[in-house]
Amino acid sequence: MIIVKLGGSAVTDKSKDFTPRLEVIENAAKQISSISEQILLVHGGGSYGHPLAREYSLHEGFSHSSQLSGVSQTRYSMTQLNQIILSILLRHGVKAVSVQPSACFVCTNKRISHRFLEPIEGLLTLGCTPVLYGDVVTDQEMGFCILSGDQIVSHLAGALSPRKVIFGLEVDGLYTEDPRNESARLVKDITFADLKSISAGEVGDVTKGMKGKLQEITEICGIEVDLINLMGEETLVKAVSGEVDGTRIH
Ligand code: IPE
Repeated sequence: MIIVKLGGSAVTDKSKDFTPRLEVIENAAKQISSISEQILLVHGGGSYGHPLAREYSLHEGFSHSSQLSGVSQTRYSMTQLNQIILSILLRHGVKAVSVQPSACFVCTNKRISHRFLEPIEGLLTLGCTPVLYGDVVTDQEMGFCILSGDQIVSHLAGALSPRKVIFGLEVDGLYTEDPRNESARLVKDITFADLKSISAGEVGDVTKGMKGKLQEITEICGIEVDLINLMGEETLVKAVSGEVDGTRIH
């Protein structure tokens, strides 16, 4: 089994609120339909999640009842993106089944502290492709919090022992520094131990961009993690077959 994260920056247009990048989702769905190995999918929020989460300060937890409308709207918006992705996966013949993360996970101070994985395990046993996503979840200390798709991936990697984990991004992989800097170089192969030497950018998301992603990847230690560009041709299929066109972390 392989866990694949479809990054929100790749599957949505971050410059326009509530705008999916249908061609990127199509490209991913087409590749997923051609992969025989079992896959568990997690997608991010992009412009369906982060702007609302920021507007209502959802990452800071509950402080005022005016935030509750933001909880409802963010949850609703994420299910809308999830339905768009599901509809494209189904059209490509993938046996995708949506799983609501806020009904499987509860956090304490922004980290998963309670989980109910039986529905996910049951779907995998059946041969289906569970599809989860970054979500607003209840938090036993903070009332609610944003649970990133990346944290869901690292948690499920620990619980379900996939053969590998693949993060689909809108860039080619991990860079030696912020890829907007001219001196940034793509890292093709790196060990978990050497990840600390990379100074990735925070790039303003409520879940901390590439820096947050690297923190979550560090938690996965022991299972190969590949970072690939979801816009690239056949990058997902290649990563599954071991020919990583991006960054391989091991
Ligand atoms: C964020 O999930 C979900 C919400 C803001 C509700 P992610 O943190 O996994 O999203 P991306 O991939 O960075 O967009």
